[in-house]
Amino acid sequence: MTAVTAIAHPNIALAKYWGKRAGTRDVPAVPSLSVTLGGLATRTTVTVEPGYSADELWLGGQLTTGDSAARATAWLAELRARAGSPHFARVQSQNDFPTASGLASSASGFAALAVAAAAAYGLDLDRAELAALAQRGSTSAARSLFSGFAELVPGEPARQVAAPDHLPLVVLVCVTTEAAKEMSSRAAMAQTITHSPYYESWVRFAEGNFAAQRAALLARDWETLGAALEASAFAMHASAMAAGIVYFNDVTLRLAARVRALRTEGVSVWASMDAGPHVKVFTRSQDASVAQRALESVPGVLRVIAATPGPGAMRV
Ligand code: PMV
Repeated sequence: MTAVTAIAHPNIALAKYWGKRAGTRDVPAVPSLSVTLGGLATRTTVTVEPGYSADELWLGGQLTTGDSAARATAWLAELRARAGSPHFARVQSQNDFPTASGLASSASGFAALAVAAAAAYGLDLDRAELAALAQRGSTSAARSLFSGFAELVPGEPARQVAAPDHLPLVVLVCVTTEAAKEMSSRAAMAQTITHSPYYESWVRFAEGNFAAQRAALLARDWETLGAALEASAFAMHASAMAAGIVYFNDVTLRLAARVRALRTEGVSVWASMDAGPHVKVFTRSQDASVAQRALESVPGVLRVIAATPGPGAMRV
């Protein structure tokens, strides 16, 4: 019997990826740039045992069936074939943050799984190979292999762009509902590609926006970076909305308005939203407590989680 445990953290995209390259399962259509968040963690133990008769996925102490289990099992089958092992695995995974918090648990989930499962099956892989493995499960998971700021360029291995201490960044995750999201990002991306009249424009926009953000990040140019990361989120959502996919709720819009108002009051804050109604507000550490208080007082906000750039996925 071999048991290996790994920890990984969620990542939030500053430059969003939305849509896969045609004919691929996990290659993004556009380049993306993210920050891996410390503090919030997924801890996963993979046990490989000759006696097991099937793979088992335990999430938060519950044996899981259905879509998440099928996705993990298909992923494990590929890994087993690569490792040349006939043995099944038990996966036990726990998030120390609420799953409906709007933080991408599939990213930290597949990043932790890749690190733990590769080791449990005896594969000695470098970080880029582990990222590629995580990407097979969830495209954005590739970025959670890296500490600080990471990029995922179509057709290339994910890699680090800057260390966690490159910028004194705080991400304020404003939780607007406890409900699980209505539509998976995978299905929503596919619908955007087939139905949005703006999908091609999004792809063109995303390439230039990514380049601008990458340069602004390396130059520590907050104003350019902030404006461009907010533009990325709105452009992604505009493209999806034109295909009938609306992730925003009333609190999302109220928060976006509050963020705009705070900027006119001289507080450096920029809003970003993913495949859900929560708002992630990017700010500098010097503005974080003022911004957090202001966001907590927006009607409908359930809580605000403050996170800073953190480590990549690792074995423990
Ligand atoms: O790879 P997925 O299915 O977790 O999709 C992630 C999509 C967004 O979070 C909306 C954007 C991104 O780049 O993380």
